[in-house]
Amino acid sequence: MDVLIALVNRIQRACTVLGDFPDDRNSLPSLWDSLPTIVVVGGQSSGKSSVLESFVGRDFLPRGSGIVTRRPLVLQLNKIDEGQQDYAQFLHTGNKKFTDFSAVRKEIEDETDRVTGKKKQISPLPINLSIYSPNVVNLTLIDLPGLTKVAVEGQPDGIVQEIENLVRSYVEKPNCIILAITPANQDVATSDAMKLAREVDPKGERTFGVLTKLDLMDKGTNALDVLEGRSYRLQHPWVGVVNRSQADINRNVNVNAARLSEREFFATSPDYAHIHGRLGSEYLAKLLSKQLETVIKARLPGITSMISKRIEDLEAELDHLGRPTAIDAGAQLYTILELCRAFDRIFHEHLD
Ligand code: GDP
Ligand code: NA
Ligand code: MG
Repeated sequence: MDVLIALVNRIQRACTVLGDFPDDRNSLPSLWDSLPTIVVVGGQSSGKSSVLESFVGRDFLPRGSGIVTRRPLVLQLNKIDEGQQDYAQFLHTGNKKFTDFSAVRKEIEDETDRVTGKKKQISPLPINLSIYSPNVVNLTLIDLPGLTKVAVEGQPDGIVQEIENLVRSYVEKPNCIILAITPANQDVATSDAMKLAREVDPKGERTFGVLTKLDLMDKGTNALDVLEGRSYRLQHPWVGVVNRSQADINRNVNVNAARLSEREFFATSPDYAHIHGRLGSEYLAKLLSKQLETVIKARLPGITSMISKRIEDLEAELDHLGRPTAIDAGAQLYTILELCRAFDRIFHEHLD
């Protein structure tokens, strides 16, 4: 099954090159829409970056105050053999391998600014990042700008609405799995993530609720009502996590040490020990990987028919352009056509 996630990853990269990705200014039916995706949604500081970094076991996301994430980040995690060095590659930097993860963070920042300008606009053009590591499960997630109610100094008017429109253009697609990040030390009912998820997925069929900051709840309270499905019930069980606190980050506690203390927290907690096997970032990553595989498998017929349609369109476009001779638009289309044909063959093998 892992081969399917890898294939969908390649189609997603091809889509980015073709300009086929969610954009609230353009709602044509697309190949992208036929692909199952997991999208990370939450308010600012709800713990989105922390959850993603714990899936990767590395610090690699930009940090700061204000609206830090200003373009979608398509994060493709690929498991490699134990003992191998982890590394990262961007679609926009070709074969360049990053083994220094602070350089990955810098590249995300620079590439964000390259498209959005120094004025801190947002853009729907995704950044595609693949990470290869023995410590990940095969999983693709999309990090989006955090939902917010107020723009900060220096950010353009209208950015709040623009962010909401961008996030909505992802989560409204029926093939989108919503990872709704909700801090446990706030009222779940008023969580930005849950409000949006409820709106686009009222039955909670494709929403995974994640409760962060369980360690920051008031003494004497716990989140068992939510975690055990008595309140804010979704079709999938909620998962609670404990990420690094700001103090941990300031002290350079690394992500792997944090995973261990998270496990310890749940295993020894009087409130959570009885369900500790279904809590924590590692459990969440595995759960999502399994869900993504299941959904891809269920959607294969839809994906194959979109691919066939795409092949027809590309062939027509190429006939119009003439066969390419150089590295030009035609050559790019031709490469993508070849890719689509390969997917078509492989998907059909899996369907038969
Ligand atoms: P984002 O804005 O949604 O990406 O949120 P971040 O992941 O950057 O987290 C915002 C702040 O909350 C940071 O200072 C984190 O250290 C802190 N934080 C996130 N999750 C937890 C958690 O589970 N426990 C504690 N104590 N702090 C957390
Ligand atoms: Na939230
Ligand atoms: Mg963040």
